[in-house]
Amino acid sequence: MDPARLASLSQAAQAAAQSAGQIALDFFSKREELAIEKKGPQDLVSRADREVEEYLVKTLAVEDRSFGFLAEETHPLPDDLSNPMWIIDPIDGTTNFLRGLPAWCISIALWEEGRTVLGVIYDPVGKELFTAVRGQGAFVGARRMRCSHTTSLTEAVVAIGRSRRVPDEAILRALDRLTTEGAAFRKMGSAALASTYVAAGRVDAYLEMHLNAWDMAAVACLIEEAGGKVNTGFDEAVLKDGGPFLAAAPDLFGPLLALSGISGI
Ligand code: IPD
Ligand code: CA
Repeated sequence: MDPARLASLSQAAQAAAQSAGQIALDFFSKREELAIEKKGPQDLVSRADREVEEYLVKTLAVEDRSFGFLAEETHPLPDDLSNPMWIIDPIDGTTNFLRGLPAWCISIALWEEGRTVLGVIYDPVGKELFTAVRGQGAFVGARRMRCSHTTSLTEAVVAIGRSRRVPDEAILRALDRLTTEGAAFRKMGSAALASTYVAAGRVDAYLEMHLNAWDMAAVACLIEEAGGKVNTGFDEAVLKDGGPFLAAAPDLFGPLLALSGISGI
Protein backbone atom coordinates (compact mmCIF):
# COMPACT_ATOMS: atom_id res chain seq x y z
CA MET A 1 0.00 0.00 0.00
CA ASP A 2 1.15 3.53 -0.71
CA PRO A 3 3.16 4.96 2.30
CA ALA A 4 1.05 8.14 2.51
CA ARG A 5 -2.17 6.10 2.52
CA LEU A 6 -0.72 3.86 5.27
CA ALA A 7 0.25 6.88 7.36
CA SER A 8 -3.26 8.27 7.05
CA LEU A 9 -4.84 4.90 7.99
CA SER A 10 -2.52 4.82 11.01
CA GLN A 11 -3.80 8.25 12.08
CA ALA A 12 -7.38 6.94 11.81
CA ALA A 13 -6.51 3.83 13.84
CA GLN A 14 -4.80 5.95 16.50
CA ALA A 15 -7.85 8.19 16.87
CA ALA A 16 -10.15 5.14 17.02
CA ALA A 17 -7.93 3.47 19.65
CA GLN A 18 -7.94 6.56 21.85
CA SER A 19 -11.72 6.99 21.69
CA ALA A 20 -12.18 3.27 22.31
CA GLY A 21 -9.81 3.65 25.26
CA GLN A 22 -12.21 6.16 26.83
CA ILE A 23 -15.12 3.72 26.40
CA ALA A 24 -13.00 0.97 28.00
CA LEU A 25 -11.92 3.24 30.88
CA ASP A 26 -15.57 4.08 31.66
CA PHE A 27 -16.28 0.34 31.99
CA PHE A 28 -13.03 -0.14 33.98
CA SER A 29 -14.12 2.44 36.55
CA LYS A 30 -17.38 0.56 37.20
CA ARG A 31 -16.18 -2.97 36.46
CA GLU A 32 -17.93 -4.46 39.50
CA GLU A 33 -21.23 -3.88 37.62
CA LEU A 34 -20.10 -6.00 34.63
CA ALA A 35 -21.47 -9.53 34.21
CA ILE A 36 -18.46 -11.77 33.54
CA GLU A 37 -18.79 -14.69 31.12
CA LYS A 38 -16.38 -17.60 30.72
CA LYS A 39 -15.20 -18.44 27.17
CA GLY A 40 -13.01 -21.28 28.50
CA PRO A 41 -10.71 -22.08 31.44
CA GLN A 42 -9.16 -18.78 32.67
CA ASP A 43 -10.64 -17.05 29.59
CA LEU A 44 -13.12 -14.30 30.42
CA VAL A 45 -15.19 -11.75 28.52
CA SER A 46 -17.67 -9.01 29.38
CA ARG A 47 -19.81 -6.35 27.71
CA ALA A 48 -16.77 -4.06 27.80
CA ASP A 49 -14.80 -6.22 25.30
CA ARG A 50 -17.80 -6.45 22.96
CA GLU A 51 -18.73 -2.76 23.06
CA VAL A 52 -15.14 -1.60 22.54
CA GLU A 53 -14.82 -4.02 19.62
CA GLU A 54 -18.13 -2.90 18.10
CA TYR A 55 -17.01 0.74 18.30
CA LEU A 56 -13.68 -0.03 16.63
CA VAL A 57 -15.22 -2.07 13.82
CA LYS A 58 -17.85 0.60 13.13
CA THR A 59 -15.29 3.41 13.16
CA LEU A 60 -12.61 1.71 11.06
CA ALA A 61 -15.09 0.34 8.49
CA VAL A 62 -15.68 3.91 7.32
CA GLU A 63 -12.03 4.21 6.18
CA ASP A 64 -12.39 1.66 3.38
CA ARG A 65 -15.44 -0.53 2.87
CA SER A 66 -13.40 -3.19 1.06
CA PHE A 67 -11.23 -4.01 4.12
CA GLY A 68 -12.06 -7.16 6.10
CA PHE A 69 -12.04 -7.67 9.88
CA LEU A 70 -10.61 -10.29 12.22
CA ALA A 71 -11.60 -9.34 15.77
CA GLU A 72 -11.39 -11.40 18.94
CA GLU A 73 -15.00 -11.35 20.09
CA THR A 74 -17.24 -11.00 17.06
CA HIS A 75 -15.42 -11.20 13.72
CA PRO A 76 -13.97 -14.59 12.73
CA LEU A 77 -11.49 -14.83 9.85
CA PRO A 78 -13.16 -13.93 6.53
CA ASP A 79 -13.07 -16.55 3.74
CA ASP A 80 -11.72 -14.04 1.24
CA LEU A 81 -8.24 -12.83 2.17
CA SER A 82 -7.56 -10.95 -1.04
CA ASN A 83 -8.22 -7.53 0.53
CA PRO A 84 -6.44 -5.81 3.44
CA MET A 85 -7.93 -6.63 6.84
CA TRP A 86 -8.09 -4.92 10.24
CA ILE A 87 -7.04 -7.24 13.09
CA ILE A 88 -8.43 -6.13 16.45
CA ASP A 89 -8.09 -7.14 20.08
CA PRO A 90 -10.49 -4.77 21.87
CA ILE A 91 -9.07 -5.45 25.34
CA ASP A 92 -5.92 -7.53 25.61
CA GLY A 93 -5.48 -8.48 29.25
CA THR A 94 -9.18 -9.00 29.98
CA THR A 95 -8.45 -10.79 33.27
CA ASN A 96 -6.38 -7.81 34.47
CA PHE A 97 -9.12 -5.43 33.29
CA LEU A 98 -11.84 -7.28 35.19
CA ARG A 99 -9.73 -7.41 38.38
CA GLY A 100 -8.79 -3.73 38.31
CA LEU A 101 -5.15 -4.35 37.38
CA PRO A 102 -3.70 -1.68 35.07
CA ALA A 103 -1.92 -3.81 32.41
CA TRP A 104 -4.36 -4.08 29.50
CA CYS A 105 -4.52 -2.41 26.12
CA ILE A 106 -6.30 -1.97 22.82
CA SER A 107 -4.59 -3.51 19.80
CA ILE A 108 -5.24 -2.64 16.14
CA ALA A 109 -3.28 -3.89 13.14
CA LEU A 110 -3.77 -3.57 9.43
CA TRP A 111 -2.88 -6.76 7.56
CA GLU A 112 -2.05 -7.06 3.88
CA GLU A 113 -0.61 -10.03 1.97
CA GLY A 114 0.75 -12.09 4.86
CA ARG A 115 2.08 -9.36 7.14
CA THR A 116 0.95 -6.45 9.24
CA VAL A 117 1.60 -3.07 7.67
CA LEU A 118 0.67 -0.89 10.61
CA GLY A 119 0.19 -1.42 14.33
CA VAL A 120 -1.39 0.66 17.09
CA ILE A 121 -1.33 -0.25 20.77
CA TYR A 122 -3.08 2.06 23.24
CA ASP A 123 -2.71 1.76 27.01
CA PRO A 124 -5.64 3.78 28.38
CA VAL A 125 -4.52 3.61 32.03
CA GLY A 126 -0.95 4.74 31.32
CA LYS A 127 -2.20 7.00 28.50
CA GLU A 128 0.56 5.74 26.22
CA LEU A 129 0.06 5.41 22.47
CA PHE A 130 2.47 3.10 20.62
CA THR A 131 2.45 3.13 16.82
CA ALA A 132 4.31 1.80 13.81
CA VAL A 133 3.88 1.93 10.07
CA ARG A 134 5.87 -0.52 7.94
CA GLY A 135 8.99 1.26 6.70
CA GLN A 136 8.25 4.40 8.74
CA GLY A 137 9.53 3.52 12.22
CA ALA A 138 7.96 2.84 15.63
CA PHE A 139 6.97 5.52 18.13
CA VAL A 140 5.65 6.00 21.65
CA GLY A 141 3.78 9.28 21.37
CA ALA A 142 6.14 11.39 19.26
CA ARG A 143 9.28 9.61 20.50
CA ARG A 144 11.05 7.03 18.35
CA MET A 145 11.15 3.54 19.90
CA ARG A 146 14.09 1.13 19.71
CA CYS A 147 14.52 -2.39 21.03
CA SER A 148 17.24 -2.84 23.64
CA HIS A 149 20.88 -3.53 22.84
CA THR A 150 21.09 -6.31 25.43
CA THR A 151 23.42 -9.00 24.14
CA SER A 152 23.50 -11.54 26.95
CA LEU A 153 20.77 -13.60 28.58
CA THR A 154 22.50 -12.98 31.93
CA GLU A 155 21.50 -9.32 31.61
CA ALA A 156 18.11 -9.95 30.01
CA VAL A 157 14.59 -9.33 31.32
CA VAL A 158 12.21 -11.64 29.47
CA ALA A 159 8.43 -11.24 29.68
CA ILE A 160 6.46 -14.44 29.37
CA GLY A 161 2.86 -15.48 28.91
CA ARG A 162 0.91 -18.65 29.39
CA SER A 163 -2.63 -19.74 28.68
CA ARG A 164 -4.63 -22.95 29.02
CA ARG A 165 -4.76 -23.32 25.22
CA VAL A 166 -1.56 -25.41 25.11
CA PRO A 167 0.11 -27.79 27.61
CA ASP A 168 2.56 -26.17 30.04
CA GLU A 169 5.57 -28.44 29.41
CA ALA A 170 7.18 -26.27 26.73
CA ILE A 171 6.98 -22.97 28.62
CA LEU A 172 8.16 -24.61 31.86
CA ARG A 173 11.14 -26.12 30.02
CA ALA A 174 11.96 -22.71 28.52
CA LEU A 175 11.66 -21.05 31.95
CA ASP A 176 13.97 -23.62 33.43
CA ARG A 177 16.57 -22.93 30.72
CA LEU A 178 16.18 -19.16 31.08
CA THR A 179 16.73 -19.42 34.82
CA THR A 180 19.86 -21.47 34.25
CA GLU A 181 21.12 -18.77 31.85
CA GLY A 182 20.54 -16.09 34.50
CA ALA A 183 17.68 -14.19 32.81
CA ALA A 184 15.02 -12.34 34.85
CA PHE A 185 11.28 -12.72 34.15
CA ARG A 186 8.17 -10.62 34.12
CA LYS A 187 4.59 -11.80 33.61
CA MET A 188 2.26 -8.92 32.97
CA GLY A 189 -0.99 -10.57 31.91
CA SER A 190 -1.32 -8.75 28.58
CA ALA A 191 0.69 -10.31 25.77
CA ALA A 192 0.16 -7.29 23.52
CA LEU A 193 1.27 -4.72 26.11
CA ALA A 194 4.22 -6.78 27.39
CA SER A 195 5.51 -7.35 23.87
CA THR A 196 5.02 -3.68 23.04
CA TYR A 197 7.53 -3.09 25.84
CA VAL A 198 10.03 -5.13 23.78
CA ALA A 199 9.68 -2.49 21.03
CA ALA A 200 10.11 0.25 23.65
CA GLY A 201 13.29 -1.39 25.01
CA ARG A 202 11.71 -1.77 28.47
CA VAL A 203 12.03 -5.56 28.40
CA ASP A 204 14.32 -7.52 26.09
CA ALA A 205 11.96 -10.23 24.85
CA TYR A 206 8.48 -11.76 25.03
CA LEU A 207 7.81 -15.49 24.83
CA GLU A 208 4.52 -17.41 24.81
CA MET A 209 3.87 -20.86 23.35
CA HIS A 210 0.52 -19.92 21.80
CA LEU A 211 -1.09 -16.62 20.91
CA ASN A 212 -3.95 -15.80 18.62
CA ALA A 213 -3.33 -13.53 15.64
CA TRP A 214 -5.15 -10.60 17.29
CA ASP A 215 -2.75 -10.70 20.29
CA MET A 216 0.40 -10.38 18.18
CA ALA A 217 -0.48 -8.71 14.85
CA ALA A 218 0.02 -5.07 15.88
CA VAL A 219 3.06 -5.71 18.07
CA ALA A 220 4.85 -7.66 15.35
CA CYS A 221 4.93 -4.49 13.24
CA LEU A 222 6.00 -2.36 16.23
CA ILE A 223 8.84 -4.71 17.15
CA GLU A 224 10.22 -5.05 13.63
CA GLU A 225 10.06 -1.30 13.10
CA ALA A 226 11.91 -0.85 16.41
CA GLY A 227 14.76 -3.04 15.15
CA GLY A 228 13.71 -6.27 16.86
CA LYS A 229 12.78 -9.69 15.52
CA VAL A 230 9.67 -11.88 15.69
CA ASN A 231 9.31 -15.58 14.89
CA THR A 232 6.11 -15.36 12.90
CA GLY A 233 4.46 -13.91 9.84
CA PHE A 234 0.68 -13.91 9.34
CA ASP A 235 -0.23 -16.45 6.70
CA GLU A 236 -3.68 -18.02 6.60
CA ALA A 237 -2.74 -20.77 9.09
CA VAL A 238 -1.52 -18.26 11.69
CA LEU A 239 -4.52 -15.99 11.13
CA LYS A 240 -6.79 -18.98 11.69
CA ASP A 241 -5.12 -20.86 14.55
CA GLY A 242 -2.43 -18.56 15.96
CA GLY A 243 0.90 -20.04 17.03
CA PRO A 244 3.93 -19.58 19.27
CA PHE A 245 5.30 -16.05 19.67
CA LEU A 246 8.83 -14.91 20.32
CA ALA A 247 9.70 -11.23 20.01
CA ALA A 248 13.17 -10.11 20.96
CA ALA A 249 15.91 -7.53 20.79
CA PRO A 250 18.10 -8.38 17.77
CA ASP A 251 21.05 -9.98 19.61
CA LEU A 252 18.84 -12.14 21.83
CA PHE A 253 16.51 -13.49 19.17
CA GLY A 254 18.76 -16.37 18.00
CA PRO A 255 19.66 -17.65 21.49
CA LEU A 256 16.03 -17.38 22.67
CA LEU A 257 14.68 -19.15 19.61
CA ALA A 258 17.08 -22.04 20.21
CA LEU A 259 16.33 -22.13 23.92
CA SER A 260 12.54 -22.00 23.47
CA GLY A 261 12.42 -24.85 20.97
CA ILE A 262 9.94 -22.99 18.72
CA SER A 263 10.49 -22.43 15.03
CA GLY A 264 11.26 -19.15 13.27
CA ILE A 265 10.47 -17.94 9.75
C1 IPD B 1 -4.64 -13.07 26.77
C2 IPD B 1 -3.56 -12.21 27.36
C3 IPD B 1 -2.59 -13.05 28.16
C4 IPD B 1 -1.95 -14.13 27.29
C5 IPD B 1 -3.04 -15.00 26.71
C6 IPD B 1 -4.04 -14.16 25.91
P1 IPD B 1 -6.97 -11.77 26.45
O1 IPD B 1 -5.50 -12.31 25.94
O2 IPD B 1 -2.84 -11.54 26.37
O3 IPD B 1 -1.55 -12.24 28.67
O4 IPD B 1 -1.07 -14.90 28.07
O5 IPD B 1 -2.46 -15.96 25.87
O6 IPD B 1 -5.07 -14.98 25.43
O7 IPD B 1 -7.81 -12.98 26.65
O8 IPD B 1 -6.73 -11.00 27.68
O9 IPD B 1 -7.43 -10.93 25.29
CA1 CA C 1 -5.88 -10.96 23.66
